[in-house]
Amino acid sequence: MADTQRMACQQLQSRIMTAAEAAELIPAGATVGMSGFTGAGYPKAIPAALASRIGRLNQQGGDKFRINIWTGASTAPELDGELAKVDGINMRLPFQTDPICRDKINKGEMEYTDLHLSEVSQYAWSGFLGKMDIAVIEATAILEDGRLVPSSSVGNNKTWIEQADKIIIEVNHKQPAKLEGMHDVYYGTALPPHRKPIMITDPSERIGEQYLHCPLDKVIAVVETNAGDRNSPFKAPDNVSKRIADHIINFLHEEIEIGRLPRTMLPIQSGVGNIPNAVLEGLNAGPFKNLTAFTEVIQDGMLKMLKSGTLAVASATSFSLSPDGMEDFEANIDFYRDKIILRQQDISNHPELIRRLGVIAMNGLLEADIYGNVNSTHLMGTRMMNGIGGSGDFARNGYLSIFVSPSTAKGGAISSIVPMVSHVDHTEHDVKVIVTEHGLADLRGLSPRQRAEKIINHCADPEYRPMLLDYLQRAEASGRGMHTPHLLNEALSWHQRYEETGSMKQ
Ligand code: COA
Repeated sequence: MADTQRMACQQLQSRIMTAAEAAELIPAGATVGMSGFTGAGYPKAIPAALASRIGRLNQQGGDKFRINIWTGASTAPELDGELAKVDGINMRLPFQTDPICRDKINKGEMEYTDLHLSEVSQYAWSGFLGKMDIAVIEATAILEDGRLVPSSSVGNNKTWIEQADKIIIEVNHKQPAKLEGMHDVYYGTALPPHRKPIMITDPSERIGEQYLHCPLDKVIAVVETNAGDRNSPFKAPDNVSKRIADHIINFLHEEIEIGRLPRTMLPIQSGVGNIPNAVLEGLNAGPFKNLTAFTEVIQDGMLKMLKSGTLAVASATSFSLSPDGMEDFEANIDFYRDKIILRQQDISNHPELIRRLGVIAMNGLLEADIYGNVNSTHLMGTRMMNGIGGSGDFARNGYLSIFVSPSTAKGGAISSIVPMVSHVDHTEHDVKVIVTEHGLADLRGLSPRQRAEKIINHCADPEYRPMLLDYLQRAEASGRGMHTPHLLNEALSWHQRYEETGSMKQ
């Protein structure tokens, strides 16, 4: 029985069906745009129903049933995991974090296009990605006139609904009804040369509508669900995360004292994970009041900051909450409602807005080299970890681009500071500050050799410092290019050694 509050559109009543019936409407080879961003707002029932159909059909032999999946960002085991398990994904974009997908991508069994998250809708609109057949979108409710109350992420949903030939909607009764009113969907975007400035000059400004428009003639199915988002727990900040957070907080205080940041700072952006969460906890413990966030994802730390008044408003495209964070959000949703704005990802991550607002961007790195180039995506230069996500949108355009990491990985066998990164996501021109538990390297205005000394002495693990200094000195002594000295036959030897021996140590 349809809940009329959640499914008020009479015209769509006849299209309500089960997830298994809706999954039958997705043909082999289809390109499917699914909702979902960092484990929030993804369809909960249809992907698993489709995976079970694909599993059955593929067992019968013949041509493999596979589809292409585009989303906002990462989803959850119920979507990526289930479909990857039955080998049902041919190509995936623009971001994922699922271990089964990762394995298939790195075995060459799944194509993966890793894109700047702000740019995906432009790619789709410009026709760079081909045609979208079906959009599968989770909504909190469907209004009488067919407009959708978005769920816990907006992501690329506006674009998918506009681009797809057909639409399937999952109405999730578990999503809090009071999400209604928290979204700001902007219908003023256009392709060049018809673009107009996006008139956001403060993260609190709303420029769009609360609902997603949805053409009823395209809707082929409505499925009702009742399941929560992924909501992975955060680890309590460990000593390394706390030390990294302390370095950042001290640095921000100094920038304020010097007069390079206002007392209310500038809007903050924070990646998801334990270190960013520790930084947010550190900010929350400090004297800051009425800060703003212009970010991609709202995690537990931001809820705590809103509660304490450290943060006045947070603009994002999605939530990424732990079970405790979700419980708090639902219990206090009336308090949070006017302090959180969820926008589509081409606005939450828009380079124009990030540059204009002067965002302080904080993201994770896998490795940085002595000159400040950063690899956020590729393990040993070849294996995909997650993807660039929004880090490039924020790093290049931010007022301050801060990258954080423990100084080593795998119990010390890997140094996060290396002579040359094995893959570049963020160039030395975009990286302003690097922080590990050992210290912070402020790279602004420095030449490459000045940067190298700073990164090695402030950020590298003490065990690796002599090796890095030795490399730098020998590169300088080689008498080749002195602007960015390298020993080309040795620059990636640390990675080679790790692959061969299991350690970068000599
Ligand atoms: N080489 C190989 N493996 C490495 C490594 C390196 N240089 N550095 C870290 N790792 C491994 C770690 O050992 C760990 O694996 P394990 O759990 O099996 O031991 C894993 O990579 C994650 O490392 P961790 O230090 O816990 O990092 P994290 O969870 O903070 O994630 C990134 C770091 C870079 C993977 C993550 O920030 C990311 O995906 N960034 C790109 C997207 C992004 O920034 N999104 C936010 C924008 S809004």
